[in-house]
Amino acid sequence: MTNNIQLNSDGKLKHFLSIEGLDQTLLTEILDTAASFVNPSDGQIKKVPLLRGKTIVNLFFENSTRTLTTFELAAKRLSADVLNMNITTSSTAKGESLLDTIRNLEAMFVDMFVVRHAISGAAHFIAQQTAQHISVINAGDGQHAHPTQAMLDMFTIRQHKGDFSKLRVAVIGDILHSRVARSEIQALNTLGVAEVRVIAPKTLLPAKVETLGVTVCHDLKQGLADIDVVMMLRLQKERMTSALLPGESEYFKCFGLTEEKLLYAKPDAIVMHPGPINRGVEIDSKVADGKQSVILQQVSNGIAVRMAIMAMAMQHNGVNV
Ligand code: CP
Repeated sequence: MTNNIQLNSDGKLKHFLSIEGLDQTLLTEILDTAASFVNPSDGQIKKVPLLRGKTIVNLFFENSTRTLTTFELAAKRLSADVLNMNITTSSTAKGESLLDTIRNLEAMFVDMFVVRHAISGAAHFIAQQTAQHISVINAGDGQHAHPTQAMLDMFTIRQHKGDFSKLRVAVIGDILHSRVARSEIQALNTLGVAEVRVIAPKTLLPAKVETLGVTVCHDLKQGLADIDVVMMLRLQKERMTSALLPGESEYFKCFGLTEEKLLYAKPDAIVMHPGPINRGVEIDSKVADGKQSVILQQVSNGIAVRMAIMAMAMQHNGVNV
């Protein structure tokens, strides 16, 4: 038995809301399942009938390019019927509550909600309220979690580096406001990396950040020493309620990743970014488009990884992955 709302009584995934509470075996099963969808010879993703007859609704209350699109493609590759709710033209604008929106969609025989919301805990709330047979996937909630982004990033790291146990990973930038950072740190530690190092100005780090299982550095060049994986984050200006930085150009001078600063990491280090990237703020174009960048591979990997998570979460609904 488990008290984790994400897991069934037999320990199988039902909802995917956070990396927290999931063990290494389950995270590895997600990565292996995702790999099984990718054709090794050309990297193309097969269409499979796993979710034929299932209905998935993408409920995005916040903007998205990568996550919404790859969830839609993933659902289609799994042969599900998929509907993208346009929240700006829905009855939410007329005052309908989140719960009433969910109840109405449930009445249309939905099997899965994929939820992005500006409020931390929104996906968890829906998972608690929705009918038993429905699975909920968190596509990013407030500053809390973005677990599918973390898993596609783990998939990308494994593609390039293999074994996690010897890796030193630097997460750089606005950790304070980043749901991606929280999920990445949890996933990296669960998969057993040697070190997760956060590099940021003090104003962009949460209080007691060390308790997340990271080492801390405030200098980019020093912090990049011995690093295998460089993960850049954008400044989440939409979540900043006060002036935390002197300005973007000053930030770029100190924490922006340039070709010159990247030389301080290991020569074969890969450069990652969940997107959207802000060129000239946290990353120089020559690095974003350079030979060490795997940023667009992260996007491609989002399809197979989201397929794996959706298929595994439907196992309780009679799906055999
Ligand atoms: N990484 C990410 O969540 O990007 P989108 O906001 O475009 O979905």
